[in-house]
Amino acid sequence: MRKPIIGANWKMYRGVPSEAEEILRELVPKVIDIKNVDIVIAPPYTSIIKTIELIKNTSIKVGAQNMYYEEKGAFTGEISPLFLKKIGCEYVILGHSERRNIFNETDELINKKVKKALEIDLTPIVCIGEHLDERENGKTKGVIEKQFEMTFDGLNQEDMIKLIIAYEPIWAIGTGKTATPEQAEEIHMFIRKIIEDKYNKDTAERVRIQYGGSIKPSNARELFSKANIDGGLVGGASLQAESLYQIIKSAENY
Ligand code: PGA
Repeated sequence: MRKPIIGANWKMYRGVPSEAEEILRELVPKVIDIKNVDIVIAPPYTSIIKTIELIKNTSIKVGAQNMYYEEKGAFTGEISPLFLKKIGCEYVILGHSERRNIFNETDELINKKVKKALEIDLTPIVCIGEHLDERENGKTKGVIEKQFEMTFDGLNQEDMIKLIIAYEPIWAIGTGKTATPEQAEEIHMFIRKIIEDKYNKDTAERVRIQYGGSIKPSNARELFSKANIDGGLVGGASLQAESLYQIIKSAENY
């Protein structure tokens, strides 16, 4: 059985340590006894250290929202994966559609980052997903397959089992328009089939695939109840302790 995993992607919010503290002081006691859901908080860089302090002695993990693929050097403005690892991050979100679309990150770049993260034992949460026009033109599966091929190029079976895939249809991110559980499940099954064809059935069964895009307390349970949806990556609704808690609770027992 795959353990569900909920990621809180705070994006460019709650970046002042006191803002992270406000939500975590409320959230941590609520989730402290939840054992059957993995919880990852991904704050902006500026509140990562504070977040690590506040989740100490709990099973909550901390992730970054991006990283570069080099460990050090003259890369003004970039963040080294090794710095993240050394301060206590265990996860990193890679290939988020906002990185791809606003900052022009390519599949090739994301592939380098994924390989580096795996090399230094940071667990990548790798986002893939289609644009609205691609869905409307029946191209969703083709787009997903191509992103998969390029983003995960060169990875072996052990690598695949370690990483997390987040299926995030771009038209559902921050729009309030969630994919229906059936739409999401169809693509999750499709991704699992790609893994089975490229690797084998065992690997396909073990990789965790999150859904992301306008998850709310009101739609979370129905999404997570689908056989191939292993939790979610949550943006807007992760900025309040109560709604994040409700979403985490919804992933219990699936
Ligand atoms: P959203 O964001 O929940 O606000 O739609 C999800 C994401 O971008 O990961």
